[in-house]
Amino acid sequence: MWEIIDELDRLRAQARLGGGVERIKAQHRRGKLTARERLEVLMDPGSFEELDMFVEHNCADFGMQDSHVAGDGVVTGFGTVHGRRVFAFSQDFTVFGGSLSESNARKICKIMDMAVHVGAPVIGINDSGGARIQEGVASLAGYAEVFQRNVLASGVVPQISAIMGPCAGGAVYSPALTDFILMVKDTSYMFLTGPEVVKTVTHEEVTAEQLGGAVTHATRSGVADFAFDNDLNLLKQLRRLLSFLPSNNRAAPERIATGDDPRRQEHSLDTLVPDDPLRPYDMKELIEKVVDNYDFMEVQSGYAKNIVVGFARMDGHTVGIVANQPLVLAGCLDIASSVKAARFVRFCDCFNIPLVTFVDVPGFLPGLQQELGGIIKHGAKLLFAFAEATVPKVTVIIRKAYGGAYDVMSSKHLRGDLNYAWPNAEIAVMGPKGAAEIIFRNEIRSADDPEGKLKEVSAAYAANFANPFIAARKGFIDDVIMPHDTRFRVIRGLQTMMGKQLSNPWKKHDNLPL
Ligand code: HXC
Repeated sequence: MWEIIDELDRLRAQARLGGGVERIKAQHRRGKLTARERLEVLMDPGSFEELDMFVEHNCADFGMQDSHVAGDGVVTGFGTVHGRRVFAFSQDFTVFGGSLSESNARKICKIMDMAVHVGAPVIGINDSGGARIQEGVASLAGYAEVFQRNVLASGVVPQISAIMGPCAGGAVYSPALTDFILMVKDTSYMFLTGPEVVKTVTHEEVTAEQLGGAVTHATRSGVADFAFDNDLNLLKQLRRLLSFLPSNNRAAPERIATGDDPRRQEHSLDTLVPDDPLRPYDMKELIEKVVDNYDFMEVQSGYAKNIVVGFARMDGHTVGIVANQPLVLAGCLDIASSVKAARFVRFCDCFNIPLVTFVDVPGFLPGLQQELGGIIKHGAKLLFAFAEATVPKVTVIIRKAYGGAYDVMSSKHLRGDLNYAWPNAEIAVMGPKGAAEIIFRNEIRSADDPEGKLKEVSAAYAANFANPFIAARKGFIDDVIMPHDTRFRVIRGLQTMMGKQLSNPWKKHDNLPL
């Protein structure tokens, strides 16, 4: 018996070495943790249980029959994060470059199936040269098996992808099918075809960083949701992200007592919005002052900055925040911001996370580029997302809510549950100047002082229409609230709507304008 136990220990120790000491050193020299080290940081101490440690590939081509490593380049298993069960796979770059084989795809699929059966998140740590080239179509089949599971698990359990090394070819599509992508600056890359292929086909000279680095995807393409300086930071923030999420679509996120008084008033909010409607202010300051302990986890903070989305807690409950950002493009909705916010709203709706929307939007961004880019279709995504969402929705109009963008931003008409406005809110078809120029065109033209006349009629329009009271009189705004009371009113609104029952008509699935 002791011999068998010794043998087991020996086999485990060998498996834990993956591709060997030299390759582990090389991984460390690049500033990267190994697959197992990453899981140790991600999971609660001592909670990770590895499965399929002794699985090997079954390839007999190109000399592979003589080259077997226990585990075959991916570490899979389960553990806990903040005491809650999660499943994870972590590709081991020290073994065949973490490439995906038929056998290791089967390992990944096994834990994905288990996660869906028990309703627990799946975390994928990607560090791989892509399809195991020696295996050919068997490897492609393995990818497709993973993709199929990603799709079926979408909206059932949270799926999070950490990109912590190369991620090339079809390997990028599993992360793309998941809910959030986190990347590490300077050591992780995502692209369909690398710089060499790009040079051959399009004659463009680009670095891997420019083509698919963390900064590129977090600021330019919008593929990544987060970019971090190193492995440790990423894993720490992944744990934080998980703390906001429920385990599955039938559960609510766990309430975490924050100790922040729900009735806390923020008098600085009374003077946050400048008197001049053309002057911006920082919407993030408002968000931080309203949520528990000023703790806001922004998603896609470097992309489409004219809209701010992210997670926070209010009286301990997770909320999804969506807010126009007047500091960028005056807070206009454009293609990128509409798509960014639509995806976030749909994630929250999938996973029972109430939506809190702060509105300051002068409209959709006009222009040829936007129209040719399909703003009609892309803007419709956000409209669609808010309209189909059945989670509690509390909206506060902070300043401007003009035109179609008023409708889109979780208005009463899209089944907003509680819609509030600050006293200085302007709710109208368009800004007073633009409106006056159209409806008083003749009076302005024939006036002795057209500029003066424009000012006069704009002011008259603003007095009549650009305020929250007309909407309040119609019941489109449930109440006009004091800025310093915003935190309490939103929390009370959310408490009131807790347990909301609302469902959409039966359908196979919707037809979101893609
Ligand atoms: C088998 C691979 C591999 C792969 C790397 N290795 N990628 N083995 N299949 N896809 C092996 C290398 O042979 C090497 O083995 C070890 O992993 C480390 O690789 P290096 O090249 O030494 O590392 P590095 O210089 O850091 O470069 C990493 C890399 C590069 C950029 C990922 O290895 C690379 O370009 N790999 C190929 C990428 C690729 O084209 N993949 C196929 C994509 S197509 P030794 O024994 O020498 O240490 C695809 C289709 C899927 O994925 C479609 C699904 C729909």
